[in-house]
Amino acid sequence: MAAYQFPSHSTPSSKSLKHPSNPFVRLLSKNHGILIKSSPRTINLRAKLFKNPTKTSNSDTQIQNFQHCFTKSEDGYLCCEGRKVQDVMETVERSPFYLYSKSQITRNFEAYREALEGLNSIIGYAIKANNNLQILEHLRKLGCGAVLVSGNELRLALHAGFNPTRCIFNGNGKTLEDLVLAAQEGVFVNIDSEFDLDNIVAAARIAGKKVNALLRINPDVDPQVHPYVATGNKNSKFGIRNEKLQWFLDAVKAYSNELKLVGVHCHLGSTITKVDIFKDAAVIMLNYIDQIRAQGFEIDYFNMGGGLGIDYYHTGDIIPTPGDLIDTVRELVLSRNLNLIIEPGRSLIANTCCLVNRVIGVKSNGTKNFIVIDGSMSELIRPSLYGAYQHIEFVSPSQPDDEICTFDIVGPVCESTDFLGKDRKLPTPPVGTGLVVHDAGAYCMSMASTYNLKMRPPEYWVEEDGSISKIRHGETFEDHLRFFEGL
Ligand SMILES: Cc1ncc(COP(=O)(O)O)c(C=O)c1O
Repeated sequence: MAAYQFPSHSTPSSKSLKHPSNPFVRLLSKNHGILIKSSPRTINLRAKLFKNPTKTSNSDTQIQNFQHCFTKSEDGYLCCEGRKVQDVMETVERSPFYLYSKSQITRNFEAYREALEGLNSIIGYAIKANNNLQILEHLRKLGCGAVLVSGNELRLALHAGFNPTRCIFNGNGKTLEDLVLAAQEGVFVNIDSEFDLDNIVAAARIAGKKVNALLRINPDVDPQVHPYVATGNKNSKFGIRNEKLQWFLDAVKAYSNELKLVGVHCHLGSTITKVDIFKDAAVIMLNYIDQIRAQGFEIDYFNMGGGLGIDYYHTGDIIPTPGDLIDTVRELVLSRNLNLIIEPGRSLIANTCCLVNRVIGVKSNGTKNFIVIDGSMSELIRPSLYGAYQHIEFVSPSQPDDEICTFDIVGPVCESTDFLGKDRKLPTPPVGTGLVVHDAGAYCMSMASTYNLKMRPPEYWVEEDGSISKIRHGETFEDHLRFFEGL
């Protein structure tokens, strides 16, 4: 598979800083907790624009109705659902912190629900993307099922009140203990390998319950994404080998007291921005379903996984909507009278949140300029891990005399790979300026660590009425010491 190249967003060569030491220091004007009256604008989200005039009304409706939570106020401040992010910074206990829009989560879910109208379906939210309990409870109340990749994610989903019969347990290394819990609770379980099948059979016996199972098959379709987030190709560690399908079908038949094969599953990868890829995979998977049904199995479910990408670059690229995604497989699913399971993570939660940081200082090493912030790879690792691009901007307007330079935005962690953005053309910020990393709702907090003893940050969301609520406590140094108590 050819490695996908992230588009380069480097800007023209940087100007060196005229005054590398202290002229950046400027006191921030305080603007405590003022409720901003402006409501979020209905913006013409460039990412949603399907310029194809023949496109169906599904997409057109979503363009018109699309409302994004992060907007600019008329005086140039970044707002989340009409609340100035700068005001939120002044009121919360510490920086960095994650700031979400609850309404944006609802809107993203509704986009999937509308897209699936007319189909029997389960929207299984991939908890790995973001496991905040308040967010899970919100999604569960909206009607979401859950997709789990560990025993603890299963326990958390149960704790959040998800209906187990709308949950799917995935994974290439599920333990017997976790499978027993899954069997007891009646969640769908994906069969990933020969040993996984043995463990599921054993779990069913221990639980005294038959497991509804799906076979995870690799369609071997190239998702055209970074190789680290590609999963549905032949060399992936996930799923069964196509040529072993008959072996698995025979095994399932042999264990008919323990297993009921109800469906097939595939997951191609993540950040996919071409829906044709999903269609190609669906055609292959439906062919497998036809073969399996021909042997007398009652296959009711096609689980097409997650993977829809988002507009990380904020450059107006055409990113398919949930409606576009479902439309590409709708007729296929209906033609076989199947229930469709989808497993979105990123496209449900990523754009609902940003990581809010403060500028600690600005420096230059002669050839490169750096904005050093209090956030880092510990709180948000995607740029360091995958070279991923996330859009960065300041929360307040710049001043006319703020020199525009090309900067790397880096954290204080003792690693050269500790960067949040590279080669960004930005006005030189005064110390203390708020700086956000956008689209931080997925695979950011859930991947956060305490490296360098940077304790995991608190999380907040803007409620539907515009008030700010804390939805997760920040970790503290005392939390860390607790791991050593009583040893
Ligand atoms: C099996 C499975 N389902 C769903 C997802 C969610 O993918 P995404 O967040 O790209 O929608 C993942 C993540 O890679 C996954 O491994």
